[in-house]
Amino acid sequence: MSNDEIFFKWSPDYSVNIKAIDDQHQELVNILNRLFVAVSKREGDQAIAGILDALVSYTQTHFALEERLMRQAKYKDLEPHIAEHKKLLEQLDQLAKKHMLEEKPIYFEMLAFLKSWLKVHIQGVDMKYSTALQQAGFSVDAWEREATAEFATMSNSKKWWEVWKAA
Ligand SMILES: [Fe+2]
Repeated sequence: MSNDEIFFKWSPDYSVNIKAIDDQHQELVNILNRLFVAVSKREGDQAIAGILDALVSYTQTHFALEERLMRQAKYKDLEPHIAEHKKLLEQLDQLAKKHMLEEKPIYFEMLAFLKSWLKVHIQGVDMKYSTALQQAGFSVDAWEREATAEFATMSNSKKWWEVWKAA
């Protein structure tokens, strides 16, 4: 994929200064780009559904890890953050239902929505918790070592990468 064809280009401006979280955000961006290619090239419903499944499962895993970090660090705005995560998953579900019920593809609408959601979420509330945790002296390094090992096990069981990297 050449640079001008990339749907969602990662920028250092999106970094929340926690490597494990940045890596996962970049992976979400990668899956969105993969979805964009599949939709643009009309790869077919089965291939697209596989990538969407991967996107949803990776998003759930990522949210769970982020929520655990905030909980462990006793972050005061944990509840509203969880509510944002929950709402996104509901919106995705609604888009999927709309897609199935109306039988007209809404993939581009979905991609545009996800891209803007992710940008706003990362640069807004994700940046906020990251700054707050680091200012409060929470040891992000120790958490990262533990989380990275656990995340590897979680994503192993999901096998999400096989779905979209093989496609
Ligand atoms: Fe988040």
